[in-house]
Amino acid sequence: MMNLPSLDRITGIIQAPHSREVKLLEICQLLRETCSYYNWVGFYLADQNREELVLGPHVGEPTEHVCIPYGKGICGQVAKSRETLIVQDIEVVENYLACNVNVKAEMVVPILKDGQFVAELDIDSHQKYPFTERDRVYLNGICQLIAGLF
Ligand code: SME
Repeated sequence: MMNLPSLDRITGIIQAPHSREVKLLEICQLLRETCSYYNWVGFYLADQNREELVLGPHVGEPTEHVCIPYGKGICGQVAKSRETLIVQDIEVVENYLACNVNVKAEMVVPILKDGQFVAELDIDSHQKYPFTERDRVYLNGICQLIAGLF
């Protein structure tokens, strides 16, 4: 079983004297390096006025989805529901925005600051059925810490 970075390690990144952009990128890098089935890791930032998600710091293959309207795809659905969404096999869902042929599963965790949706963490996997309860608990935990950056 892989050892995901400790919450203390994530807190260390968050408290370092760097810009939010740099910190979010470091978290992406750390998660992707640590977990073999986290193949693309990135943040989408909320533009509440336009009801759009804007691509933020990310690691992995380039994506064409730099701007996603609320409601569209897995990411857009989470912007509306504000609830973690795990899709273990993207072939069985319809409201999905394809990035590249290697992606088989996706997990998106909302980041809420004082109850307000501010961003989300998106993880694509090249494996089907990769995500466990441990991923859900862990990623929700780090997103609560990351909310402090907004
Ligand atoms: N697949 C996502 C789009 C974003 S990429 O995975 C980076 C979706 O359906 O919202």
